[in-house]
Amino acid sequence: MSRLFLSDRIPYDTGTNAISRLLERLRRQGVEVLNLTETNPVKAGFVFPLEALHAGIVQESISGYDPHPRGLQEAREAIAGYYEEHGIHVHPEAIYCTSSTSEAYSMLFKLLADPGDEILVPEPSYPLFDYLALFEALKPVPFRLGYGKGAKPMVNRDSVETVCSNRTRALIIVNPNNPTGSYLDEDDRKFLTEFCRRRGIALIVDEVFHDYCFLETKPPSVLSQEMPCLQFTLNGLSKTLCLPQMKLSWFVVSGPLRYQRKAQSRLDILLDFYLSVNTPVQVAAPVLLSRREEIQEAVRLRCRDNLAFLQSTMKEIDGIDVYPVEGGWSVVMKVWRIDDEEEFVLRLLEDHHVLMHPGYFYNFIDGENLVLSLLPSIETFRDGIRRFVKAIYDW
Ligand SMILES: Cc1ncc(COP(=O)(O)O)c(C=O)c1O
Repeated sequence: MSRLFLSDRIPYDTGTNAISRLLERLRRQGVEVLNLTETNPVKAGFVFPLEALHAGIVQESISGYDPHPRGLQEAREAIAGYYEEHGIHVHPEAIYCTSSTSEAYSMLFKLLADPGDEILVPEPSYPLFDYLALFEALKPVPFRLGYGKGAKPMVNRDSVETVCSNRTRALIIVNPNNPTGSYLDEDDRKFLTEFCRRRGIALIVDEVFHDYCFLETKPPSVLSQEMPCLQFTLNGLSKTLCLPQMKLSWFVVSGPLRYQRKAQSRLDILLDFYLSVNTPVQVAAPVLLSRREEIQEAVRLRCRDNLAFLQSTMKEIDGIDVYPVEGGWSVVMKVWRIDDEEEFVLRLLEDHHVLMHPGYFYNFIDGENLVLSLLPSIETFRDGIRRFVKAIYDW
């Protein structure tokens, strides 16, 4: 038999696990599972006004094709307008459109690093970073976000200093973090920008959940602060407008001008080879972004309601702490009474037909955390939490 060579960039262990296999079996048996991990806004019932989608997309200019590596001027101006509404001046020329935030990471990794170089990724956080780095033949190197006294995860600065090597090329931070819902602390931000400046590496800040704030005053975007290092700030319609199907994201280049120029001259070449963002969504961007408040307010209301229900229910139960959430779509519970997250999640699914994520999916290391989405409908969420309480008492 002849041989077939394939790249090692794609790990084999991304397929099924015990939870996905059980879920599949239950679905085959016709069991209705309450999915408290749903983060697809469309599946959670957030439907963008159809007439705005029509008005945005059905325009004469969609029949033309005059691409630009940074994205169409009208799309970039609309995105600059989004920041203007937040009191931040971003020049449209500093904006690059991509088809997803994941794609933005892959472009930035190509810009910043060579095969074998290292990217510092936060833990616990969004689990895709490891894979996105591996797909570019880079090595993801974790640094810890540790829960401090106030139960707000802070950057473990020793961990950052220790894991940084002469192959490190970028550091990622998520603001607010997924799934802990914590906005980047101002002291941590200063530490990270100064650290990146000193090490000559770039800071990548993922702000896809930035608008979904539970605090009275929303912490400012990192784009409104001074930046001593080369910085890339990511966002997109998939979270900002609950429109993952539209495939439009972006990143903003900022920092010292000479670094920006160097980065942008290379980015212009790189993105010109892909031109991956379709014209209709870019043409529609101004109309879509103008409807931001309606959809975001609906999501915030749902998340607040679900969070309040969770907090009031868990207050009555010993051995469960709901970590404070400042923003985002997720919440983490520390469940002191379980010593094996996965075993508990499997039992909850098998016996009570409720799906939650074990903390290790997000690189929590103490084995006692459960991660929930705040997006499910009020009925699904409440029913799921009531069944969870039963499961806890049965445990
Ligand atoms: C922190 C974070 N960044 C990026 C993404 C992916 O966004 P996109 O759908 O634009 O690729 C997600 C998706 O959940 C996320 O949680």
